[in-house]
Amino acid sequence: MNREMIMVLDFGGQYNQLIARRVRECNVYCEVYPYTVSLARIREINPKGIIFTGGPNSVYDEASPHYEKEIFELGIPILGICYGSQVMAYTLGGEVKSAPVSEYGHTETELDKSSALFQQIEDNSTVVWMSHTDYIARVPEGFRITAHTAHCPVAAMECPQRGLYATQFHPEVMHTKEGQKMLQSFVYKVCGCRGDWQMGAFVEETIAQIRQRVGQGRVLCALSGGVDSSVAAVLLSRAVGKQLTCVFVDHGLLRKNEGDEVEAVFGPQGDYELNFIRVNAQQRYYNKLKGVTDPEEKRKIIGEEFIRIFEEEAKKIGAVDFLVQGTIYPDVIESGLGKSAVIKSHHNVGGLPGVVDFKEIIEPLRMLFKDEVRKAGLELGIPQNLVYRQPFPGPGLGVRIVGEVTEEKVRMVQDADYIYREELSKAGLDRDLGQYFAGLTNMRSVGVMGDFRTYDYAVALRAVNTSDFMTAECAQIPYEVLFKVTSRIINEVKGVNRVMFDLTSKPPGTIEWE
Ligand code: XMP
Repeated sequence: MNREMIMVLDFGGQYNQLIARRVRECNVYCEVYPYTVSLARIREINPKGIIFTGGPNSVYDEASPHYEKEIFELGIPILGICYGSQVMAYTLGGEVKSAPVSEYGHTETELDKSSALFQQIEDNSTVVWMSHTDYIARVPEGFRITAHTAHCPVAAMECPQRGLYATQFHPEVMHTKEGQKMLQSFVYKVCGCRGDWQMGAFVEETIAQIRQRVGQGRVLCALSGGVDSSVAAVLLSRAVGKQLTCVFVDHGLLRKNEGDEVEAVFGPQGDYELNFIRVNAQQRYYNKLKGVTDPEEKRKIIGEEFIRIFEEEAKKIGAVDFLVQGTIYPDVIESGLGKSAVIKSHHNVGGLPGVVDFKEIIEPLRMLFKDEVRKAGLELGIPQNLVYRQPFPGPGLGVRIVGEVTEEKVRMVQDADYIYREELSKAGLDRDLGQYFAGLTNMRSVGVMGDFRTYDYAVALRAVNTSDFMTAECAQIPYEVLFKVTSRIINEVKGVNRVMFDLTSKPPGTIEWE
């Protein structure tokens, strides 16, 4: 494959995949490698440039990661970031010291705009994101200083003759205002990339790689209808067609019409050539959940039942060679320094591998962030309503109905949620919100409709803004939209006579209710 590539050398920092993603945003392919990758392998890969990441260590720690000096002699441009800049300085004979004043956060920085890194920046100073306790006190021979802050004499240094550049700050995080321009300059001006990578190329290459890896093998995929598993399934179906079987369990806790929507896309009438098995397990779930009110118990039952059903289906199919998982980068917790990664315990299909007889796992989206997965989905021609689907918990509406789950309550929350989503979409607000949904409280109250007294349930609407889903702010929805949604829910959803709006942030709340 003769494509430009930037290699990110992972020294254990938090933002390593983010660097790769920012470079890909410049239309240049980028992959993260552990710092233990050999020099011979780097020569073989022959990247257009290398980026050293940050990391938690001090270059003087005994166990701190380093790289042999010869990497600087390869003639490949290198950008060192934070700890990576200190590794560069230290290895080439400069001096790294504990800084008298640690810098953390937004920091005003003076730039020398004759540097190739800063040429696209208009002003002589800019705000960058700093996070360091050590700093470069003296640059190696042949280097010059190209940026400084009030407390950091070497915020950036370079030796353009050798293609070596370094920043103490993090250009990859969005708090560094002009960071993307700096990375772009490194990739284009210093490394000489042309920008030959698009999501379409990723899709085509992944398909080709999967084809080669799978050969004539049989592949099994648990399809939830969510973005990640849908994109993974479509990639596989494009690669190996009928060798793929997708099992979709409709547990009766999906959003309104969702089961049919998934079937319309992936089933026999859809655009994809695959063996699609829909298991209609609605009643089975409602029976299991009867009388259960404890949220954790509900989650456990829903998860276990899913595994049982999948196991039954897998038995019918017989031995398979590959199991597909829609794991994406945020699901992968780096266990540090490029060692093998583990999957978050709450991951929807985290419990699957043990119950199916298979040889290998395929995770085609492992490197991507959610919005990159969406782009890949659009490239693959997956309908927009599936690609931009709201995040949805594995246990589905089971955790959006407080208290006992019944078929009747599922209908209420499905209908209310559908109206809410429809009105937010009509108001043009849907793409700007992090997550929004209707839940059903366990509270009934008195109302009056027509000439009759009612004693019905209260629906609660939730809308939050969040980028990482670890914290979230309650989103502000215009009152006129809320009035419209409320009026429609009360008029159209039998069994509901009151609508409330949940103003809680996370923390102290969570996004879901249970
Ligand atoms: P919480 O409620 O913990 O939710 O603030 C954070 C995000 O995770 C989603 N969520 C889940 N996703 N399986 C999932 O795949 C689950 O069991 C689960 N529970 C919560 C939730 O929708 C939100 O986006």
